Amino acid sequence: MNGTMARRWYFSKRPEEMIEDDTMVLRDEPVPALEDGQFLFRTLYLSLDATNRVWLSDWDIYMEPVRIGEPMRGFVFGEIVESRNPDFPEGAHAAGLHSWSDHIVTDGAGFSVFPPLDGIDLAEAFAILSVAGPTAYVGLHDIGKLKAGDTVVVSGAAGAVGTMVGQIAKNEGCRVIGIAGSDDKCRMLTEQLGFDAAINYKSENVTDRLGVLCPDGIDLCFENVGGDILDASLTHMKDFGHVVICGLISSYNSSEPIPGPYMFRNLIMRRLTVRGFVILDHEDRFPEAMGALASWMAEGRLTMPLHIIDGLEAAPKALNLLYTGGNTGKLLVRI
Ligand SMILES: NC(=O)c1ccc[n+]([C@@H]2O[C@H](COP(=O)([O-])OP(=O)(O)OC[C@H]3O[C@@H](n4cnc5c(N)ncnc54)[C@H](OP(=O)(O)O)[C@@H]3O)[C@@H](O)[C@H]2O)c1
Repeated sequence: MNGTMARRWYFSKRPEEMIEDDTMVLRDEPVPALEDGQFLFRTLYLSLDATNRVWLSDWDIYMEPVRIGEPMRGFVFGEIVESRNPDFPEGAHAAGLHSWSDHIVTDGAGFSVFPPLDGIDLAEAFAILSVAGPTAYVGLHDIGKLKAGDTVVVSGAAGAVGTMVGQIAKNEGCRVIGIAGSDDKCRMLTEQLGFDAAINYKSENVTDRLGVLCPDGIDLCFENVGGDILDASLTHMKDFGHVVICGLISSYNSSEPIPGPYMFRNLIMRRLTVRGFVILDHEDRFPEAMGALASWMAEGRLTMPLHIIDGLEAAPKALNLLYTGGNTGKLLVRI
């Protein structure tokens, strides 16, 4: 589109812990004319994900990191405003993994057209279907071998993935206990999202409370946090239980070696299956996951609390909300 300018964030300096003012720089750049096979995408929502910070680290991670000088990578949702690619028609909505930018010219690699979902808010649909919902679905079923009647404990329970895990497990006939960082978040879990119980890890002794709430033990621990919270769940696992290592957010900003888990012996004593996973490896499972998630959404049995920040310029600092517990539900930037 002639004369259109895009704004895009670039990674400029590796942060020591939290994202800082100089971690990224926002640049204006002209939007190039479309070539055959390309389309112009206008971003409506940018997803902020806990793993964004991991991509900026110097760790050996599960995919290419974002290198200094490169555009910041992220999941985006928006509309196709001009197209020379028949698979991505003008006017359709699409979602994909690209850059923190308000306009994107692409050949569609990493993008998919978003299905129209009658009566469902597009931001909520993106929040559920792009990463958090499939992660919860695949983590519970494929990694955690979920079955009806299981006692499930999920940490980071009031966040994007955690709220999905709890509601899906409830929909499948399980008992669910969430662990979160405030009384308000715990109330939301039990009063609005149907969790059986919630533990505020900042004011309660998680190990003791899990002992009281799970007298027969935990079948499935869905771990989003790590550290002491993972230890508390490991202490109360049932024989042959499953521990799904989805995330270890308590360590993502750490530049020091991370100790523990201290209840490692329970891997033997309780004969546990502990398995980490990354959702990007499970694309073949997306059709089933999306189908189930969309049905539950349509039936009103799966909702996502949204935490929306306005303006692309606010994105880097907003990312820190994920590491301070400042968000409830899915953190999105509206552009
Ligand atoms: N394996 C995969 O493919 C995959 C895919 C997506 C996400 N994940 C992982 O899933 C987890 C959740 O990600 P998300 O994007 O959905 O974020 P989120 O849960 O919406 O937000 C992060 C939440 O984590 C909690 N938290 C942050 N630092 C903590 C700490 N030191 N101790 C305890 N709790 C802490 C905070 O809630 P409180 O107020 O409760 O502290 C915060 O709100 C992350 O670990 C992420 O890496 C993994």
